[in-house]
Amino acid sequence: MKFFIDTADIAEIRDLAATGLVDGITTNPSLIAKSGRDLFEVLKEICEVVPGPVSAEVTAIDFDDMLREGRILAKVADNIVVKTPLTVDGLKTCKTLSDDGIKVNVTLCFSAAQAILAAKAGAAYISPFVGRLDDTGADGLQLIAEIVEIYNAYPNFHTEVLVASVRHVGHIIESAKMGADVATIPPAVLRAMYKHPLTDKGLDAFLADWAKTGQTIGDAGGKETRRSA
Ligand code: E4P
Repeated sequence: MKFFIDTADIAEIRDLAATGLVDGITTNPSLIAKSGRDLFEVLKEICEVVPGPVSAEVTAIDFDDMLREGRILAKVADNIVVKTPLTVDGLKTCKTLSDDGIKVNVTLCFSAAQAILAAKAGAAYISPFVGRLDDTGADGLQLIAEIVEIYNAYPNFHTEVLVASVRHVGHIIESAKMGADVATIPPAVLRAMYKHPLTDKGLDAFLADWAKTGQTIGDAGGKETRRSA
């Protein structure tokens, strides 16, 4: 499963990219607004830090303007993926850009029917929003299961399932079990994935016992492992 980070916060991106576990980034207009930065400036910086796919969303709602914006965004860097909403105009834009060789992430997907349309429009990624579906009382993960099943039935669909609107670690675990291709993860959720109280407790015990030995691990191996008293 690939991990994208769902943020436009460059400090967070630099910090998490240093783990070597970040495969890409997703942004949206709300995340850009939250960053307080110029869209093009922040996108260029993100694309320099993360060589993988970086999603940048169009803000127009009609086909001609979406297409114009998509082409402008695609010129920012080779790793930009244009994000279009799951509307008629958004999918027309997706089809045109995809036919031109520009990768598109179709966002705001809330049904399997919409995911089928995005695949037919040549989307590189479909972004079903699990958290926002859960908020309505529906089952976001059930949608992931449906889309994975449908896409697997059609080898000519090359659209990757990108689990979006992730709210907790359980969303990642369950999506991974289903074989979803990508999860876009808020920084706090990615950090939470590392945590287990038994890891902390076990490490404390190991370090306490090690301190009692008076040894250190040095370049010279066993000969120099004992500290001088
Ligand atoms: C990702 O591409 C989406 O924009 C994002 O995951 C939305 O998440 P939210 O529902 O937490 O805003």
